[in-house]
Amino acid sequence: MVVNKVFHDTSMIITKHLFIVTGGARGLGEQVVRSLIKHGAFVSIFDINDELSHKLVNELGQNECYFHGRTDVSKEADVEAALEKTIAHFPNTILRGAVLCSGIVSPPKAIQGYGPELSLTSFQQFEHVIKVNLLGTYCVAQKVANVLLKNEPIGQDGERGIIITVSSILGLDGLIVGYGTSKAGISGLTLPLAKELAPFGIRVMSVAPGVFDTPIRNRSSNNTRLPLFPKRLGDPIEFADLVLQIIQMPMLNGSTIRLDGALRA
Ligand SMILES: NC(=O)c1ccc[n+]([C@@H]2O[C@H](COP(=O)([O-])OP(=O)(O)OC[C@H]3O[C@@H](n4cnc5c(N)ncnc54)[C@H](O)[C@@H]3O)[C@@H](O)[C@H]2O)c1
Repeated sequence: MVVNKVFHDTSMIITKHLFIVTGGARGLGEQVVRSLIKHGAFVSIFDINDELSHKLVNELGQNECYFHGRTDVSKEADVEAALEKTIAHFPNTILRGAVLCSGIVSPPKAIQGYGPELSLTSFQQFEHVIKVNLLGTYCVAQKVANVLLKNEPIGQDGERGIIITVSSILGLDGLIVGYGTSKAGISGLTLPLAKELAPFGIRVMSVAPGVFDTPIRNRSSNNTRLPLFPKRLGDPIEFADLVLQIIQMPMLNGSTIRLDGALRA
């Protein structure tokens, strides 16, 4: 029997296709934007940081990179508007997926904790972080999935698109009430959502980073626990490389990949 080993024309998935990157203004998301564009994709950034988003678009070129304006992923109307404008900006380009990197560790200082020195997590703090991280992730995932559903299936597998979320080892290992819970929720969403979207040829994956060198980290603190090996912070390029590999590897579906150099939180 002759086995056809050419399963997937992987370049077809990225080059000249459109991706949405939330949290694309800086950190891990910014590197995903840069790497996707380097591989010939078009990218739309959904972020609340106008200044950095515009700066990145100006650097990378408005034909390849688009920012509609301040987009809070936890606000359904913001996400719908950004999605509509994105599709209008790239009228002849197929939206192939989204990489959902937006996230916060702590709520704004104005939202107080409770208990001794207000050090415990209040419901309001919990609600805020869950809203941005977990509901914001699902809001964009669902709206993007609704567009991907209408794509023509491509390749031998009939794939329509992909959604990649960002969890955290703090979620998987059970640290920090609001943040860790939101990230556990994002990881927990992966398989049910992959099952729901599988009949339509849409894959869902999540990456759970360990410690990466981005502005989210408090650089003044030198008590960061490092991975067992390699004993250093992760480089955002390593994160973006994994995202690109996930996009190009059809068998990866419904899982959370730890990217942590064996660090346990
Ligand atoms: N850096 C790490 O070590 C690490 C480890 C584990 C998980 N993560 C996760 O990876 C993701 C990216 O982290 P990072 O280190 O690049 O952080 P970062 O703070 O550098 O970037 C986060 C981006 O998300 C944007 N953002 C925040 N709230 C938003 C909202 N409501 N709507 C739209 N955009 C919003 C910010 O403006 C920013 O551009 C986050 O979800 C984070 O929880 C990071």
